[in-house]
Amino acid sequence: MLLNVANVSKSYARQPNGGVGARSDQDLVLNAVNISMDRRQTVALTGESGSGKSTLLHLIAGLDVPDQGTIMLNGVRINAASDAARAAIRQRGIGIVFQQFNLVPSLTVLANIRLQARLAGREDKAQIDAIVEALSLQSQLSKYPEALSGGQQQRVAIARALAVRPKLLLADEPTGNLDETTSDAVLEQLLALVDATDCALLMVTHSNHLASRLQRHLRLSQGQLQDMQLGTCA
Ligand SMILES: Nc1ncnc2c1ncn2[C@@H]1O[C@H](COP(=O)(O)OP(=O)(O)OP(=O)(O)O)[C@@H](O)[C@H]1O
Ligand SMILES: [Mg+2]
Repeated sequence: MLLNVANVSKSYARQPNGGVGARSDQDLVLNAVNISMDRRQTVALTGESGSGKSTLLHLIAGLDVPDQGTIMLNGVRINAASDAARAAIRQRGIGIVFQQFNLVPSLTVLANIRLQARLAGREDKAQIDAIVEALSLQSQLSKYPEALSGGQQQRVAIARALAVRPKLLLADEPTGNLDETTSDAVLEQLLALVDATDCALLMVTHSNHLASRLQRHLRLSQGQLQDMQLGTCA
């Protein structure tokens, strides 16, 4: 098994003035969530805005730690590790496409794509060339992020995440800035790339249509995950 999330809970401290209009359950974002993913599996994660999708991705990436529960990646428990150990696990095994892209503004597109792979000691020029071509980014490589459209930045963020040759790609609305036709095309490119690189995909989307293109569809609601195909708790 590639990923095993067991009984993971996460709450945030309520804002000081959060009593005004705040729901009483608002601080418990994830309530004993479970997910297992096999190698190469593709899983869609949907849920209302604020339901905790990005929070869950950040926990799996080791960018934050749960209050309770365990997160195992390739048999290694990531949530018990130190900050530095979590960063090392993430660098080698996980690619992340952030909801807000997080491209480095002072670096060209090509330097952005190479950066994480280089830091992880996993840069492979042939693979980067193939990813750049699959995402039609050849003519953008010497530009800076500010000169790109939202959709182009999104494709650079996908290329950067895949350049580390991860076994798990976490993608937070990777087509959120694109029109329907372009988002279908980018999803096809993304699915072909994860397939070609033996990578598993956990993708947040607001679109049930896009979710139906993946092997499994989980929905996050009131802190719990439902399997949309089985109609049961995941
Ligand atoms: N660092 C934080 N500190 C306090 N509260 C937070 C923090 N991050 C998220 N939250 C709260 O946790 C809840 C879940 O947020 P999260 O960003 O995970 O939602 P989401 O499902 O990704 O939403 P969206 O679809 O809008 O991106 C929200 O109520 C949010 O306000
Ligand atoms: Mg989010």
